[in-house]
Amino acid sequence: MDHESLRAAAVAAASNSYSPYSRFRVGAALLCADGTIVTGTNVENRSYGLTICAERSAIATAISAGYREFTAIAVHSPDAPVPLPPCGACRQVISEFMDHDAIVHFSDADGHWEHATVRQIIPFDSLHHLRQP
Ligand code: THU
Repeated sequence: MDHESLRAAAVAAASNSYSPYSRFRVGAALLCADGTIVTGTNVENRSYGLTICAERSAIATAISAGYREFTAIAVHSPDAPVPLPPCGACRQVISEFMDHDAIVHFSDADGHWEHATVRQIIPFDSLHHLRQP
């Protein structure tokens, strides 16, 4: 699967960032199992801890729209000096909805892209057995 348009969607989503506190813009794009792309951006708050990252914003939007399976995610920040992989909290949430072999793309301000599997960004993942049908 060519993920070029997914990466482009993450770049575009970063332009909607609400980040007046950090001035650090992030965009995320999720590839749903049917090929639909759903995007998200970081949404900050003056009570700093309430900030929602771009990745979790995209996942919440997609779940709210009825999607459940995602085969890849792309993350871009035009303010990152090095490619920006998802933060720890987002890795946990990504692991809730994406297979271990799904691909995570991440990039920096210069548009350098790297990628890893979900298994690589969240090793020793646990507690999936708690989910009920
Ligand atoms: N941020 C994300 O949106 N995703 C990440 O993976 C890392 C951090 C946001 C949160 C905050 O608005 C800003 O980047 C600086 O931490």
